[in-house]
Amino acid sequence: MKKKLVVLSGAGVSAESGIRTFRDADGLWEGHDVMDVATPEGFRKNPALVLDFYNQRRRQLFEVQPNKAHIIIAELEKDFEVTVITQNVDDLHERAGSTNVLHLHGELLKARSVNSSDFVEWKDDINLGDMHTDGHQLRPHIVWFGEAVPAITEAIIIVEKADYVIVIGTSLQVYPAAGLMDYARPDTSIFYVDPNPASIPYMANPVQVIAKIGSEGMEIVREKLLT
Ligand code: APR
Repeated sequence: MKKKLVVLSGAGVSAESGIRTFRDADGLWEGHDVMDVATPEGFRKNPALVLDFYNQRRRQLFEVQPNKAHIIIAELEKDFEVTVITQNVDDLHERAGSTNVLHLHGELLKARSVNSSDFVEWKDDINLGDMHTDGHQLRPHIVWFGEAVPAITEAIIIVEKADYVIVIGTSLQVYPAAGLMDYARPDTSIFYVDPNPASIPYMANPVQVIAKIGSEGMEIVREKLLT
């Protein structure tokens, strides 16, 4: 039986594809204060701005491609039972060929009603006046700051069963995602790939920090896993 490998990815895995990370640019995200564009309060205050912000992010998705880090992660399915648990709202893991991806913070290519968690597939802009079938305004299917992370319970169960965990491209600042690796069994090997890795509090697990960009770091991890 294949060993279970869990990849916990953040914005850094998509950096080489040309999608900017959140915290590498003076606290601004594509020129915006995160509180204006990624909170329910921001959406209440200026829904047009928030919709436009995510419309731009969604349009950008169609111009970028998965990079080597995404591809190596997908290729690991040949040798491992891989689950990707990502904080990213892009679909680059799926486009690289990963078949088992759990999005903790939602997905750009889905839209939902402001009145419920019912979502629909959505590739176009979302504009004010675009309604869900329940008669309420559509909003991006994104988990904003201050909102619950419904997928976290499933994510914890997956991490608890992992034989290997790869953490890649995350500053480990945002909870509950940042706490997920704490659920790994103490004998589970953890690899952390990030050119500017955050410090990891003491863990009983064997932890290897690989201070490289995603593509280079994943080459190294693949070699370590397969030899
Ligand atoms: N390869 C790998 N990692 C990289 C690369 C690269 N080429 N370039 C940058 N990084 C790393 C940075 O060193 C940093 O540690 O990616 C990380 C990005 O950190 P953040 O911008 O904080 O992204 P993330 O941890 O995913 O943020 C978590 O915060 O804004 C919210 O909901 C949003 O999901 C997001 C969450």
